[in-house]
Amino acid sequence: MNASSAEPLVLGIESSCDETGVGIVRGNRLLANEVASSVDLHVRFGGVVPEVASRAHLEAMVPTLRRALAAADVDLAQLDGIAVTAGPGLMGALVVGLASAKTLAAYLNKPLYGVNHLAGHVAVDLLDHGDLPTPCVALLVSGGHTSLLLVNDMATDIVEIGSTIDDAAGEAYDKVARLLGLPYPGGPVIDKAAAEGNPKAIRFPRGLTARHDLDKHRFDFSFSGLKTSVSRWVETEERAGRPVPVADVAASFQEAVCDVLSAKTVDAALHHGAQHILIGGGVAANSRLRALLEERAVAAGLELRRPRPGLCTDNGAMMAALGTQVIKAGLRPSSFDISANSGLPVSTILV
Ligand code: KG4
Ligand code: ZN
Repeated sequence: MNASSAEPLVLGIESSCDETGVGIVRGNRLLANEVASSVDLHVRFGGVVPEVASRAHLEAMVPTLRRALAAADVDLAQLDGIAVTAGPGLMGALVVGLASAKTLAAYLNKPLYGVNHLAGHVAVDLLDHGDLPTPCVALLVSGGHTSLLLVNDMATDIVEIGSTIDDAAGEAYDKVARLLGLPYPGGPVIDKAAAEGNPKAIRFPRGLTARHDLDKHRFDFSFSGLKTSVSRWVETEERAGRPVPVADVAASFQEAVCDVLSAKTVDAALHHGAQHILIGGGVAANSRLRALLEERAVAAGLELRRPRPGLCTDNGAMMAALGTQVIKAGLRPSSFDISANSGLPVSTILV
C-alpha cells in the first residue's frame, strides 16, 4: 500500500435531503466539514419539499465545495478520491450531488465512489473514535430511517437486523413537534423542551416491546402508535379546555422513544456477541438517547461509541469517512454511469 492509500485524502459530497455537505478527510482525520442547510426554506411547509431542496443544492454546491477546500487548505489535485451519496434519499436532491461528484472526478481524473448514506452515518464515528472494532451493533436513527445494523466490516459487510415497521424515529419527533405547535425539524426543539419537563408525567406506549411482539419483532421498531397516542392525549386536554403541558408531553414522548431504542440496541449487541455499540443519524444527536444508552451500555458491560452531535446530522465528512474505508479495503471505484437510488439498501455500501 502506498502512502496515499494508507491515509487517503478523500472529498465527500452529501445531498440526499436538505443539507448540502462537503467534507474532507485524511484517513480518520477530519480536515473540513462545510454544510449549507436549506431547512429555513422548508419550515413553513412543516417538512422538506423535494423540489425546493434540489434547487438549493444546485445553488449551494460550488460555494460549499470552495469553503471546504479553503478550510482544509487542500487543493483538488491532491485528492485520492471523491465519495458521494448515491442513495438512499430524495431523487432530485441526490442527482445534484452525484452529478457534481462525477464532474469533479472526470475533470480531475480521480476515482469516484458512490456510497451509501446510511453507512456514512455509521462511518462518521471513525473521525471521532478511530477504526471500528467489529462486530459492532449500530443504531441508525434519522428522519427517514430507523434500523439496527450488524457491522461486520465497515466497507463490505453491513447486515440490517431490524428496522421500523412504520415511522422513523426522527419522523415521530417531527410529527409530535407539529402537533405541539413546535417548528420543524422537531427533534432539536423537543430535545430542548423536554429538558424542562417530567419524563414520567405521562406513560406513553413503547412500540413492539410486548412479549407477543418480541417473537417476530425483537429488533424492530414502531412509532406510529406512540405518535397517535400523543395526539389523542393532547386532543383530550384541549377538548377539556386544559392548557397542554408541552414540556411534560415532550419529555414523556422522548422517554418512550429513547427507552425502546436503547433497550433494543443493547439486546441486539448481547444477542449478536458485539462488544461495541454505535449510534448514528440525526436523532443520535438527542441528549436523552445519548445519556440513556450510555447508562444501559455500561450496565451491560458494552462500550458505546457516540459521534459528536454535530457529526450526527447529515454532512459531507460522513461520506468522506466512508470513502476512506472503501479505498482502504481496496475496492474498485464506481463506474461513471451509476445513477442515484432513492431506496438503496444499507447492505449496498458501494454502488
Ligand atoms: O440524519 P438526518 O440529519 O437526516 C436524515 O437522513 O433523515 O436526521 C434528521 C432527523 C430529523 O427528523 C430531526 O428532527 C432529527 O434528525 N434530529 C433530532 C435531534 N436533532 C436532529 N431528533 C432528536 N433529538 C435531536 N437533538
Ligand atoms: Zn441522514
